[in-house]
Amino acid sequence: MNKLKLVFATNNKNKLKEVEAMLPHFEIVSLEAINCFEDIPETSDTLEGNAIIKANFITEKYGLNCFADDTGLEVEVLNNEPGVYSARYAGENCTPEDNIQKLLKELGNNPNRKAQFRTAVALNIEGKQYIFEGICKGEILKEKHGENGFGYDPIFKPEGFSKSFAEMNLDEKGKISHRGKAIEKLVTFLNKHTW
Ligand code: IMP
Repeated sequence: MNKLKLVFATNNKNKLKEVEAMLPHFEIVSLEAINCFEDIPETSDTLEGNAIIKANFITEKYGLNCFADDTGLEVEVLNNEPGVYSARYAGENCTPEDNIQKLLKELGNNPNRKAQFRTAVALNIEGKQYIFEGICKGEILKEKHGENGFGYDPIFKPEGFSKSFAEMNLDEKGKISHRGKAIEKLVTFLNKHTW
């Protein structure tokens, strides 16, 4: 039986592998695999908006079914910043370390350190659009812990755990993470229908 082709609008090989393993009945392809090397502009001020821009870009330009994700770290006392600007919080071309230092400085000794990672996924399939969301609640630590992961992982401790994301392995993090939960919802939805 022919597998339905579905573009995952990413070039992140780790993300791709994770998703492929969860969707054996689909042919999951990356942007590279469809020869899309453009920098798709993420111009929305919401995560959902950016996920939709990316998914629509592919569906409109290539006529393919596609899903895209966008993630942000939302800190309660900072009015949910850096949110959609998480990747460039400390400025254009900044490093993850710059972002961490900026966030720690903004928070200072504030006792309210509540935060959440939120992922939005937009799926375009057979002419329709669906949105999925995954949230992981936690708090911002006062200093960095651990070496694994990426981005803000060393200063984010998920609720109910005594270690940071950067002290977890991929499996541990994947089970409770924002992206893991959003992708899980997408996978349940896709596997429930006949396409
Ligand atoms: P993206 O939408 O997955 O590219 O994520 C945007 C930005 O959010 C990244 O550049 C990171 O700064 C941050 N981020 C996303 N997911 C994570 C995560 O799982 N851990 C830590 N930081 C993350």
